[in-house]
Amino acid sequence: MVKLIELTPDEFKKLAKLIYEKTGIHLPDSKATLLGNRLRRRLRELKLDSFGAYYDLLRVEAKYEEELPHFLSAVTTNETYFFRNTNLWNFIQEKWIPEIVETRGKKPKRSVRIWSAASSSGEEAYTSGICLREKLPNFAKWNVSIVGSDISDRVLERARGGVYGEYAVARMPKPLLSKWFTKNEDSYTLKQDVQKLVSFQFHNLRDAMKPGDFDLVFLRNVLMYFDTEMKRQVLKNVSDAVAPGGYLVIGDVDPVRNDKELRAIVAMDYQGPNLYRKPLPVTVGAGEGK
Ligand SMILES: C[S@@+](CC[C@H](N)C(=O)[O-])C[C@H]1O[C@@H](n2cnc3c(N)ncnc32)[C@H](O)[C@@H]1O
Repeated sequence: MVKLIELTPDEFKKLAKLIYEKTGIHLPDSKATLLGNRLRRRLRELKLDSFGAYYDLLRVEAKYEEELPHFLSAVTTNETYFFRNTNLWNFIQEKWIPEIVETRGKKPKRSVRIWSAASSSGEEAYTSGICLREKLPNFAKWNVSIVGSDISDRVLERARGGVYGEYAVARMPKPLLSKWFTKNEDSYTLKQDVQKLVSFQFHNLRDAMKPGDFDLVFLRNVLMYFDTEMKRQVLKNVSDAVAPGGYLVIGDVDPVRNDKELRAIVAMDYQGPNLYRKPLPVTVGAGEGK
């Protein structure tokens, strides 16, 4: 009979401390059994006979980089899909894009910048690209830049590939699916027309994002992994990256609105469920102040 490798309280504490230091992800003691269950198969693959040995391996910097994606997938989920949360995408297509067109659509230089923070495998970033392709008139005249970022190289690699399974596209409006994807035997490849609008990069939300000035920033389904201190840091970094007049979208599961302190860090106007807008700078009108 195969002996079950046990995760001792001490090993759990060490692993939890390490993941916190590296990523800001907080693992409460109640997650010990889950972590043990999720990592056990990885230990077998690596032919390690204890979680202590796994911890030692993670502490070697070069090994850590290689192992991080596996460790991360034991403590977070990369769950995401195209058009996640229909109301949000309705808002983007019916209000936000028309507003951008109204204010910038006649300028000789028309640009729009979006950041999908904690993008996972890219569905959110690419959904924005599809919406812009659909709704921006004279698309060729626009300079569109969408950045997707994540801490897991493995999901970023998947994002760059632009190939998705049935689950990822299941909630997409069917006409958009056939318009923007090529169907393969058991997957879908996103067309270059959308892929080329998006670039993906490694980024730890603990760090400031450069350069800022995004017209729309998504920060969805990730804050829940962090403790209060990390949430503060992340919200500050992300809010700083929003351009005046730009929007920040928070996930349904990451309520910020009812937390006074976090709400103060997101010093923006509340626009509806999990939607914030950075105020424009106050301009002094002609004749005023004289
Ligand atoms: C559930 S996915 C969210 C995907 C997408 N935003 C959505 O809502 O559909 C959470 C992602 O957060 C990433 N993540 C966790 N900690 C992070 C950190 N400190 N910095 C950047 N990304 C992080 C994970 O790798 C994972 O891909």
